[in-house]
Amino acid sequence: MLGYVYKFKIKNVFLLVLVVSGALYFVQFLFLSEVRHPVIVWWTPFMGDHERMITCSKYTCLLSKDRTHVNNKNLQAFLFYGSLFKYEDTPIPKSRIWAVFHEESPRNVALFLYQRTYDVFDITATFSRYSDFPLTLQYLENLTMITDNRYLVSLYEKNRLLDSIAPVLYVQSDCDTPVERDAYIAELMKHIQVDSFGACLNNKHFPKGIADVNSMDLYNDKLLHFIAKYKFVLAFENAICDDYITEKLWRPLVVGSVPVYLGSPSVEDWLPNPSSAILAKNFATPEELANYIHKINANDTLYETFLEHKSGKVENNFLKSTLRKGRFGVDSDQDDLIPAFECFVCQQIHEGVTKRGSKSVYDCIEPKEGNSWEYFWQSGDCQSRALVDSVVNNKSERVSC
Ligand SMILES: *[C@@H]1O[C@H](CO)[C@@H](O)[C@H](O)[C@H]1NC(C)=O
Ligand SMILES: *[C@@H]1O[C@H](CO)[C@@H](O)[C@H](O)[C@H]1NC(C)=O
Ligand SMILES: *[C@@H]1O[C@H](CO)[C@@H](O)[C@H](O)[C@H]1NC(C)=O
Repeated sequence: MLGYVYKFKIKNVFLLVLVVSGALYFVQFLFLSEVRHPVIVWWTPFMGDHERMITCSKYTCLLSKDRTHVNNKNLQAFLFYGSLFKYEDTPIPKSRIWAVFHEESPRNVALFLYQRTYDVFDITATFSRYSDFPLTLQYLENLTMITDNRYLVSLYEKNRLLDSIAPVLYVQSDCDTPVERDAYIAELMKHIQVDSFGACLNNKHFPKGIADVNSMDLYNDKLLHFIAKYKFVLAFENAICDDYITEKLWRPLVVGSVPVYLGSPSVEDWLPNPSSAILAKNFATPEELANYIHKINANDTLYETFLEHKSGKVENNFLKSTLRKGRFGVDSDQDDLIPAFECFVCQQIHEGVTKRGSKSVYDCIEPKEGNSWEYFWQSGDCQSRALVDSVVNNKSERVSC
């Protein structure tokens, strides 16, 4: 009997504790919920609202552009947009997670030409597959774009068009590059006919309706129909870096032309099929490359082997599985890359950031000696060293580069 009362009391106490703590939790939920969310601050000025809650599957974070949060005890991370990053303007001492989103060509921001710059950050989002949040397929939304035939011009029609247009197309307005692509293409043009519509090596004027297409509108419908008439399209990146692949490669694949590609040395990992592109790196000289293009141009059977993706065949399982993760190959249910990145950081905060691997996320070739970009590389070197020094030694006064 006594034992029973005793048990009963214990049970009651237990219930009481449960009810009280439940009520306390509820009160806290009502009044303090805002406070408990991790705060993430965009340090570089950036698009979007000044401040808002973001919900990322099961996690919530407060995302803000307000630097006064530096004193907020819930502040967990700073986000930096690579193209606007200034080495002399950082929240030193570094006491929070730093995450950088740098989707552009490395040659656009000098200090990002050096791996040591990326090593300062806890989370990186770059074009490299080895970054924490890889943006390698940022110009390819889904696989359907590659297999779709909506822009495809029949080979019969393309051959017929050779009476009035060149077999090869070049459209580029960024002519002074560290990789000196125009010098290569100028040599190529001595051995094969190329229609060049951009500012670089120009020899033709765009037809009406194409000239005024916004250059940021990369997959413009009219532009794609225009490109599709060409059998080959020169796709030379402005920098040669592992995994730096842009619309220059994807556009010809989308429309059903054959890309003649110079850029990422590991581009084969991303091609739909081994023979989806002609790779300039496999030819000793521009003349040899031109001879190969002539050969394919003259043989319809051979030419068709480059367009297998247009009959739905995509052998590359790595490409397929990456694109299955989500739009642009990014593992997220967000509809764009920036919100997806913000959510990635929010999730990392909730789950505990694991310091990224030692794999280099930057592997680009340097400009040739005497190239006008050498100075740019040097200033990047100085900036990147100054950044590392200020972070490691907790220095807020900055060297000027
Ligand atoms: C693939 O991306 C294209 C280009 O934005 C879009 O029009 C199309 O609806 C997408 N298709 C699928 C199946 O998601
Ligand atoms: C065209 O290419 C095919 C496939 O490589 C080859 O079998 C054929 O002999 C070639 N034809 C000529 C005329 O060279
Ligand atoms: C960094 O330097 C500042 C200003 O000199 C100092 O207040 C702070 O305690 C230092 N922090 C660390 C982590 O050394």
